[in-house]
Amino acid sequence: MSVETPHKIDTSKLDEIIQSYDCKKSNLIAILQKVQEVYRYLPEDAMIYIGTKIEGLSPATVFGVATFYAQFSLEPKGKYEIKVCDGTACHVRGSMPVLNAIRAKLNMPEGKLTSETGLFSLETVSCLGACGLAPVVVINDKVYPQMTSDAITIVLDTLLKEEAA
Ligand code: FES
Repeated sequence: MSVETPHKIDTSKLDEIIQSYDCKKSNLIAILQKVQEVYRYLPEDAMIYIGTKIEGLSPATVFGVATFYAQFSLEPKGKYEIKVCDGTACHVRGSMPVLNAIRAKLNMPEGKLTSETGLFSLETVSCLGACGLAPVVVINDKVYPQMTSDAITIVLDTLLKEEAA
């Protein structure tokens, strides 16, 4: 049930993406979004490649843009991206026990962003704009309201079972 993390960059795939955006530096953000969609993060080699392939860019510029925008991740993401809200409302209503339950279930001590299997990545966010549902966890695009340690453990067990099937 482990997920393949790409180590080698498929330059023909990158060429395809770059060409689909007319090799233009003005399309850099869209190109990076597409690359992130493919790899689930922006591999360093891909940024270097894009920086040398597109006229008027350099790897340093690509890296600068990628680090400026929060939407881009320079770390590999899991198939399931878990976001635990730790804004004020969620914190007060118990987001920390929920976060700790996730860490314990997935064997992800503090500081570990992606699970051993590569299936899950975990981050805390400040406010998801759904304070009335606190504490809130989002896994990919699905919102899990009023989470408890027990409830999130059941959710994760279900996902793990689906992956093992
Ligand atoms: S504080 Fe968690 S959704 Fe607003």
